[in-house]
Amino acid sequence: MRRVDLYDKISTITGIPEKDLPRNFQIIGKSIIINFRNNSPENKGKIAKAYLATLKLWSVYEIGRIDDAMRIPSTELLAGVRTPMTNVEDGIIYRFDPSVIMFSKGNKFERHRLTGKVRLGETVVDMFAGIGYFSIPIAPRVKRIYSCEINPVSFHYLIMNKKLNHAENLFPYFGNSGDFPYENVADRVIMGHFDSLQFLAKAFRILKNEGTIHLHAAERRNSELIGRKLDQLKEVVKYESRKVKSYSPSTNHMVYDIYVNKNKCKSDQ
Ligand SMILES: C[S@@+](CC[C@H](N)C(=O)[O-])C[C@H]1O[C@@H](n2cnc3c(N)ncnc32)[C@H](O)[C@@H]1O
Repeated sequence: MRRVDLYDKISTITGIPEKDLPRNFQIIGKSIIINFRNNSPENKGKIAKAYLATLKLWSVYEIGRIDDAMRIPSTELLAGVRTPMTNVEDGIIYRFDPSVIMFSKGNKFERHRLTGKVRLGETVVDMFAGIGYFSIPIAPRVKRIYSCEINPVSFHYLIMNKKLNHAENLFPYFGNSGDFPYENVADRVIMGHFDSLQFLAKAFRILKNEGTIHLHAAERRNSELIGRKLDQLKEVVKYESRKVKSYSPSTNHMVYDIYVNKNKCKSDQ
């Protein structure tokens, strides 16, 4: 259903003017997660029931704050039942509970782009794997991908998604990626967390002498802070950045592809 038709229908059912309906929502499998604006609790309930019936969903959640470190959303179930959901994207099955785990459909292009960059037979470390958004599509191409995850609930779904997608080359690591035991092993390190910069030194240690890091960050528009930091690091041969999506009115979700040569650093000293 087109969004205009959907708003029209929800407005008719609830009696709430279209201009007052929330515009920011994400449908995942049979659930919808809505970021409400200034609607009253009574109107939220009406809107939730209308979505449940109109789109034949199982659950309607309101999203509140998102914990920064583990990216755990605080959600409230407004209508339906709380249950794990399955989202299928490009034939890959992602199963998770949207009430406690973030899933950003807005990162789909980045998932494609990254998978396309991985060369056959590489060893990859995904330092912030979540439920396997990056790791699962990459797994069939690589020799090994180590997928680190610190949150036990996300880790549970990472294991489930490994099994559902027969990702035999994916080796889950439960714990802090800062303590990941293998170093000098990876051709590529994925850092899909906004605190990635704090873990950059560890990523260098995980890489073989040469390799690539994909570092994600929430960065103020036109800020050059991360670029300036990378310019100072001797291991960095070059880097490119691109916007993944808008994150807030003043901030973009960015990804930096960083090409590293640790020998360059030693020979310069
Ligand atoms: C934003 S999610 C990213 C998931 C996925 N890479 C993506 O792009 O959609 C970040 C994940 O990193 C996990 N995490 C946070 N700090 C971590 C750490 N120190 N070690 C391992 N995992 C961590 C969180 O629990 C969360 O599941």
